[in-house]
Amino acid sequence: MFFSPAPAQPLPLAELHMHIEGSLEPEMLLRLARRNAVSLPTEDLETLRGRYKFDDLQSFLNLYYESMRVLRTERDYTELADAYLERAARAGVVRAEIFFDPQTHLENGIPLDVVFNGLSASLDSARERFGVSADLILCVERHRGPEAAERVLREALEFRDRFIGLGMDSAEVGYPPAPFKPVYDIARAEGLHLVAHAGEEAGPDYIWQALDVLGVERIDHGVRALEDPALVDRLVAEQIPLTVCPLSNVSLKVFRELGHHTLPEMIGRGLMVTINSDDPAYFGGYLDDNFAALRGELGIDEETVARLAENSIRASFAPEAEKAGWLAQIAAARGADA
Ligand code: HPA
Ligand code: ZN
Repeated sequence: MFFSPAPAQPLPLAELHMHIEGSLEPEMLLRLARRNAVSLPTEDLETLRGRYKFDDLQSFLNLYYESMRVLRTERDYTELADAYLERAARAGVVRAEIFFDPQTHLENGIPLDVVFNGLSASLDSARERFGVSADLILCVERHRGPEAAERVLREALEFRDRFIGLGMDSAEVGYPPAPFKPVYDIARAEGLHLVAHAGEEAGPDYIWQALDVLGVERIDHGVRALEDPALVDRLVAEQIPLTVCPLSNVSLKVFRELGHHTLPEMIGRGLMVTINSDDPAYFGGYLDDNFAALRGELGIDEETVARLAENSIRASFAPEAEKAGWLAQIAAARGADA
């Protein structure tokens, strides 16, 4: 074994797939609801917690979007991001590429500048305060369609220096990637990084479209890639990162239990896999909780953990010099334990 089961000094990790709105813990939800006079179906913490059980992606999204109504002010967004970054740092996260869903905030009457100012106030000083380098990836919500996506991206370009990429999330089945090509073309022309959720609930065809039509650099989730050997060959040959979210997959019943997760097979096939928390307040934990579950329930060994850590750094959009420093730390930890 390379490391003790619960390493005192966690390896440097990049978290590449998390939605900042999905880090809204029930306690903060209640606090913000009171502060902003937003009414909730219940003010009882345990009853609230009891709602965090899902049958599928849509049942989660219903609660996730409803809960976002409590976010009203710049301070709310700053506190939300601070809480995530502080917790992520304790999990070993040194780099966070954070999704946010501006369309729902706009629908709730929150202008883009409030969202950007609030989040930036946290992220811009995250390195000094938490030791985390952090950037934003703007997600378009696929259920609202490509025209709405193009509108919000164009509006957000006023804040072009505040985000590094474009992603696509929300309901997957019935909302394939291809129609969003014009939106991704605009983002590419702006020099934004490109990612998309695909192959979480929908099949491999959505992953092909994200690669070939949208031209994404990473696939978010991608667990259904294994159903298509030609797709696996392509993903392996090009080492296209898949940002896998194990606890999310179990919560949303993509897999019945963690023991049934195909992560070991994905790694065994040579896919470039990274581990992520997705919506940590809703799915039972942060990045360290995901790794603890992989160790405990999937028997992932410490050499594999180190490889997953390396993958996360390599797959990140951080500057190359910064990545080299973290990779050297991982290599040193491996050498020390070998
Ligand atoms: N999938 C799709 N949309 C989402 C997710 C997810 O895992 N989390 C937040 N929005
Ligand atoms: Zn996600």
